Amino acid sequence: MRRKIIAGNWKMNGDADLVRRIAEHAADAISGAELVVCPPYTLLPTAASHLPTGVGLGAQDVSEYPAGAYTGEVSAAMLLEAGCRYVIVGHSERRTLYGEDNARVAAKYAAARGAGLTPILCVGETLAERDAQRTESVVGEQIDAVLEAVGATAFSDAVIAYEPVWAIGTGRTAAPEQAQQVHAFIRARVAERDPEGAAVLPILYGGSVKPENAAELFAQEDIDGGLIGGASLDSEGFLAIHRAAVGG
Ligand code: 13P
Repeated sequence: MRRKIIAGNWKMNGDADLVRRIAEHAADAISGAELVVCPPYTLLPTAASHLPTGVGLGAQDVSEYPAGAYTGEVSAAMLLEAGCRYVIVGHSERRTLYGEDNARVAAKYAAARGAGLTPILCVGETLAERDAQRTESVVGEQIDAVLEAVGATAFSDAVIAYEPVWAIGTGRTAAPEQAQQVHAFIRARVAERDPEGAAVLPILYGGSVKPENAAELFAQEDIDGGLIGGASLDSEGFLAIHRAAVGG
């Protein structure tokens, strides 16, 4: 059985109060599906000390370099020292707002893995790409870049999040069957190089997941949980999404 994961990507939101609220609720939610919280860098130490040990801590980005004159950057080793087990790599906001291309994302992925972090690789197409029937070629290239940089077993002990760009923060969720189709494609693409790793690879869906639509998404064969943006900032809603994953 594949493990299920519900991860919250706070983006540039949240404060120490939110960490405490999530920590209070999270104590009841550490079985059935793994709960992961990815707050901004500055909240990582607070989160590491307040969250129950069963809750995974993740960062939202990582430098591709190990150390040096890279003002504003944070290395994988630093994240590990701050208590992180996970790191989001290649989020569409990093790709579009900060110009991260597939090669840079793959380098960051390699740095994270090299340091012993579990990367959560985000992939997904824009609306224009979907309309042009390019979803599989775009997502396939995003995955292949990592396979080329890291090797055939790049996705053993890793997580992929399929986040269609048109569904992020828009209130427009992919239909469960639409998401399932891409998740199955992703698993098959990884399986071409690493069948065993692909079979146990958690593939999360992200994009306007809410307590109201979570269960039908998580009921799909290849959807192993969610990467939650806006709804992860409400502790009760976030935990309701976790319950949907446990039941689904
Ligand atoms: P929303 O859940 O706010 O649409 O964000 C999804 C996301 O980008 C998670 O990484």
